[in-house]
Amino acid sequence: MVFIHRTWVLMILAEFVIMLMSRTTEAKVPAVIVFGDSSVDAGNNNQIPTVARSNFVPYGRDFPAFGLRPIVPAYLDPMYNISDFAVGVTFASAGSGYDNATSDVLSVISLSRELDYYKEYQRKLKAYLGEAKAKIVIKEALYLMSLGTNDFLENYYTMPDRRNQFTVDQYQLGARKVSVGGLPPMGCMPLERTTNLFNGYECMEEYNMVALSFNNKLSGLVNRLNKELKGIQVVFSNPYQVFLGLLKKPSSYGFVEAETACCATGMFEMGYACSRLRALSCEDADKYIFWDAFHPTQRTSRIISDHLVKTVLHKFL
Ligand SMILES: *[C@@H]1O[C@H](CO)[C@@H](O)[C@H](O)[C@H]1NC(C)=O
Ligand SMILES: *[C@@H]1O[C@H](CO)[C@@H](O)[C@H](O)[C@H]1NC(C)=O
Repeated sequence: MVFIHRTWVLMILAEFVIMLMSRTTEAKVPAVIVFGDSSVDAGNNNQIPTVARSNFVPYGRDFPAFGLRPIVPAYLDPMYNISDFAVGVTFASAGSGYDNATSDVLSVISLSRELDYYKEYQRKLKAYLGEAKAKIVIKEALYLMSLGTNDFLENYYTMPDRRNQFTVDQYQLGARKVSVGGLPPMGCMPLERTTNLFNGYECMEEYNMVALSFNNKLSGLVNRLNKELKGIQVVFSNPYQVFLGLLKKPSSYGFVEAETACCATGMFEMGYACSRLRALSCEDADKYIFWDAFHPTQRTSRIISDHLVKTVLHKFL
């Protein structure tokens, strides 16, 4: 468990991507192209040898309750091909981060590897749609980046330069509408609270401070990129305050439990540990802010994604 519990695998944006997909039928944005970690990995890790997976129950338990809305397909999923990927694709990999060393911890797909897959995708898209049409999709698509927590919880600290390089890299490949995701109050994840037992299981303030300071730098970077790169629109999708609001006043949003997770004992399990103890899992995940020790429930994700779409991403839709 020592291994798994360090993986930050947040699902906040998974649902948010679904929402975007359903709106894009009105099509200001012809495609949604996603890079990141478990928050937006729709199955890439199922195709690689790693323990950072969740293709077993209780994961997915409530998924059909979701309705039959499309999800953004995983690039490595053999169920899909370029005709699906032409309107949406995720290169994300649970356990990944901005730093190469982060993805090495659980042998998952590094961000630079995600970018290599994206280049391959561009070639396939050109073969499928023709050069001219593919260029329009690449230029008009919305690019979402959702990662960073693993860099801290697995790797402790990272260099701002690497983020910079990556976004500029995307830019050079044609991306123009980019959402960069901020970090949540990660000191309040159930696992972090569990390690704070001598302080009454309070949030680990130190981790929250790190998230705030990282978000500040990211916001500065977003401003700089908007000034420096011609024709780009980068937005900063910051979940921190809205998430903290839920944690502070869970009952105002209809939650009954904010500190422990639905899955297993709710204190430290995720991934395979969650599966082993699933008999202990809660019945109604909608009453919980967290699904497992590191990931919010669908309901939490929905609230956060609604907020981000309303406040930030609406300009693309
Ligand atoms: C993609 O898969 C569908 C069926 O799943 C098939 O009909 C279609 O021809 C495939 N397209 C390409 C470009 O391979
Ligand atoms: C990350 O690894 C790739 C090779 O897998 C390498 O090309 C790239 O330069 C590395 N990035 C950094 C920032 O070290």
